[in-house]
Amino acid sequence: MMQIVGQTTQLEAWVASRTRKFSINEILIIEDREQGQPKAEVVETMTFNRYIPLASEQNNFVDEGVLSGLRQVGYDIEDEEINLAKLRLIEELAIPIRVGALVRVPLFSEVEALLVRRRPAQGLTLGVIQGTAEIAQEMPADLQGVAPLFDKENGVREQVGVPFVFDYRSMDQYPHIGIFGGSGSGKSFGTRVLLEEIMMKQVPAVVFDPHFELTFDQEFPGLPDSFRQSFKKRFVVLDAGVDIGIEFSELQGDDIVSLLRASSGSITDAMETAIKAVHKNRDSYLSYSTRLSNLAEALDNEADIRKQHGEMEYLNPDEKERVQTLYTLLKTYKDKVGGFAGTLRSVMRRMHRLEMEGVFTSAGTKKVEEAFLKRQLVVIRGSMYFLNVFAFYVVRKLYRKRREYRDSIQKGRPVEEKFPPFIIITDEAHNFAPKGDVPAPAKGVLKEIAQEGRKYGVFLVFATQRPALLDDTITAQLSTKMVFRTVRSVDIAVIKEETDITPEEASRLPYLPSGTAFISSAITGRTNAVRIRVSKTTSPHFKNPFEELEEAFAEQDAKIWEAIEPILPIDAFNLNAYLTDISRKAGRTLGHDELAHALEELCEQGKVVQENTPFGSRYRKA
Ligand SMILES: Nc1ncnc2c1ncn2[C@@H]1O[C@H](COP(=O)(O)OP(=O)(O)OP(=O)(O)O)[C@@H](O)[C@H]1O
Ligand SMILES: [Mg+2]
Repeated sequence: MMQIVGQTTQLEAWVASRTRKFSINEILIIEDREQGQPKAEVVETMTFNRYIPLASEQNNFVDEGVLSGLRQVGYDIEDEEINLAKLRLIEELAIPIRVGALVRVPLFSEVEALLVRRRPAQGLTLGVIQGTAEIAQEMPADLQGVAPLFDKENGVREQVGVPFVFDYRSMDQYPHIGIFGGSGSGKSFGTRVLLEEIMMKQVPAVVFDPHFELTFDQEFPGLPDSFRQSFKKRFVVLDAGVDIGIEFSELQGDDIVSLLRASSGSITDAMETAIKAVHKNRDSYLSYSTRLSNLAEALDNEADIRKQHGEMEYLNPDEKERVQTLYTLLKTYKDKVGGFAGTLRSVMRRMHRLEMEGVFTSAGTKKVEEAFLKRQLVVIRGSMYFLNVFAFYVVRKLYRKRREYRDSIQKGRPVEEKFPPFIIITDEAHNFAPKGDVPAPAKGVLKEIAQEGRKYGVFLVFATQRPALLDDTITAQLSTKMVFRTVRSVDIAVIKEETDITPEEASRLPYLPSGTAFISSAITGRTNAVRIRVSKTTSPHFKNPFEELEEAFAEQDAKIWEAIEPILPIDAFNLNAYLTDISRKAGRTLGHDELAHALEELCEQGKVVQENTPFGSRYRKA
């Protein structure tokens, strides 16, 4: 029997039981018929027995009100084992709950509407709602087997509980997702699960991958057969600067400033002015950089050029043209660029560096657009530095295309090419859209999408370890937040402010196990504690780094042994004679010392012995 004890309010109550232990986050029904059998969630649990007395000097978990409440309804608090839980009502009541009311576990049908807004066929199945193991037993078949779980000790195990199905179709009203959590809390794992679900629904998406961890062709080991799935046709991986480039002619002066700022940090005001002044619409990299370098040259030799310009009749035609060009540049730009060739040279050096890195290619975003039309996920990978430079260009271009397409349709104009809605996902989001005055090239367009993207069907998924460093406007626009383990108090403060998680939930944040998150969403209007499901795929470097190390070397050692074994015995004083042969067989170049070392290792392993013969020392097979 479970029963309400102690003082109650219209929002909170305590429930006690002699026999039944409570699980955190489970939903219970209070048999307070006058108030229509309200539902409540367990937000704190505790168990007491005579060895851990309820009321002692050491513990003040439970206040006097609850204790006298327990006595009133007949508990012998000095002698019995008592399970207690704090309940928080799902919906606030008009008057406090009736003390003494009985409490029971709901039928699945009674909480279905609360827990499952969408069926897995229409939503993204991200995991299992905590505290739902008991009620899940009578769940319909389409909710079963859709979210197997994983933990390191037991491997993959079957789904226990009601699946958490994210209603992504409501993102047009409540757009954007934030994924927060400290190092190792499960953000990357959770992002992978989310991306898999996005691919399963074939929603076009682009993800920036600074960690080179997002490919989906390696299956997670140990999955049940019914859960396995291939994503090979659902995603493409593009390298920034190889498969995607920035078409220089699409840039404006402002854009060049942003790019150079992103790539080389500081840009002086003089440089900024010069960059914008010299830039012309539709400039190619060549036309722009030539203009810059000519102008620098003209500034260096200003006196000469003016003089020669006065005596043009003495010049040959080539020289004439040259002097005329430089003279015109001087006249047009000298005042606008401040007159220092050095400023222009600094700009040129920075631009040249980007050019050398392959940033400006005609590849543009063609491959991304092609993939979008196939409803694929596009993984763009590169260093953080590179991605920052590209994100700005790629995101802006895709967003513009989508907007133009929507606007044309709205205004009834003919459209040549479809451009689908899409989702932009990134880890380390605080680098792309940092808080405050910190500049980042993509910040402007990302903020615009945060505010207006939903009108056009463009949505953000922002993952970060440091929500406190993410731009405020964007944070405020993330209607759904998945919050993993968070330890830093500044980050917890932001989370408390920006979500509707309860004080009890906030106090659990530092202790959440990896892979468990509070998902707080304006779509459902509540927070669910969710154990994220096992992913169907795994990152190529999911392995423990030390196991990986051993395996990599074991393979290498095996190859060397295969190469050495057939040519034993080996003359210890003439190792050089064997190097070519062994290198060829081992598939890589070995030096003298390396071979000597390998032979010693093999001696230690007992595969080879070193012996002295009348002809000198040699290694032979053991
Ligand atoms: N849903 C999950 N189920 C089971 N194990 C998980 C889950 N999520 C994470 N883990 C475990 O926790 C480890 C760390 O998770 P993950 O790599 O996602 O952390 P992270 O938050 O991305 O950390 P970082 O910020 O350092 O990148 C995983 O390698 C995995 O072993
Ligand atoms: Mg990670």
